[in-house]
Amino acid sequence: MSQYAEKQRLGKSLFTPLPEHLDSILDIGCGTGVWALAVAAERPSTQVIATDLTLPKTLPPSNVKFLQSDAEQPWPFDQKFGFIHCRMLFSGIHDWPSFLARCREHLAPGGWIELHGPYQPYRADNPAANKAEASSLIKWGYACQESWERSGIDCHTVNHQMDRLRAAGFENIEERRVTWPIGEWGDTERERQIGAITLENLSGFIGLVGVQLMANHSTLTLAQKEELVSGVQKDLSENIHENRYYVALSVFTAQKPLDN
Ligand SMILES: C[S@@+](CC[C@H](N)C(=O)[O-])C[C@H]1O[C@@H](n2cnc3c(N)ncnc32)[C@H](O)[C@@H]1O
Repeated sequence: MSQYAEKQRLGKSLFTPLPEHLDSILDIGCGTGVWALAVAAERPSTQVIATDLTLPKTLPPSNVKFLQSDAEQPWPFDQKFGFIHCRMLFSGIHDWPSFLARCREHLAPGGWIELHGPYQPYRADNPAANKAEASSLIKWGYACQESWERSGIDCHTVNHQMDRLRAAGFENIEERRVTWPIGEWGDTERERQIGAITLENLSGFIGLVGVQLMANHSTLTLAQKEELVSGVQKDLSENIHENRYYVALSVFTAQKPLDN
C-alpha cells in the first residue's frame, strides 16, 4: 500500500456503524481536510461537506466541498446529513448543548454523529517526563488549558459528552477510549504509523498556532510563549523516543432517533 493510501486509511479512523450508502456527510472543524478527503475517496457517490474557520489549501475532488464556517454561528446550508463527524474540535466550541442541538437538527432521522475529544493535556509514557517541569510539550499543554479555560472553553468535554448527547436527544450512545502515540515509538507497525501522522499533524499545528493558543494565559509574556513553543518543537524532534508522548481520547458515537 502506498504511503498516501496508508495515510488515508489511518486518517479516516471511523467508529460509527454506517450504512453502505450515504447521500451526504458533514465534517466540522476539518483542519487540513485529511479525514474528509479520505472518506470521500472511499465513498465516491457520497457528497462530503467539510467546514472550518479557515479553508484547507487542497483542491478538493468533485464530491467534497470545503466551506469556511464558524460552527458556533448559523451554518451556511439547510441540508440534513446521514453522518456528522467532529474530530478534536473541543477547543473551538463554547456552548456544547447548542452545538449538539444544531448537529441533531442537521441530521436525517436515524443519522449518526461521531465526536473525538482528548483528555488534557498530552502525556508522556516515561514517568520522569510526565510533568510540566520536565517537558516543554506537557508544560505547553497546561498553558493552553489555562488559556482556554479563561476564555470559557471546557477542556474536559470528554467527561460531559455522554450526558450532553443524552440531553440533546441522541440514542445508541457509546464511548470508546483510544490512545494515539505521538511519533514512531509504539510496539506495532500500525501504532508507529498512527504516531507518525499524529506527530506530523501536531508539529504543523503547533508551528501555526502554538503561541496563539496561549493568548489568554494569565502570566506568560509573548517572549516566554515563543520560547515555550521552541521547546515543544525541540521536544517533538529530539525527545519522542525517550519520553514516549501520547494523547488519550474518547470517541463518542450516537444516533438521532428514527422517528423524528
Ligand atoms: C485540532 S484541529 C483538528 C482538525 C481535524 N478535525 C483533524 O482531526 O484532523 C481543530 C480544528 O477545528 C477548527 N475549529 C476550531 N473552532 C472552530 C469553530 N468554531 N468552527 C469551525 N472550526 C473550528 C480549527 O480551525 C482546527 O482546524
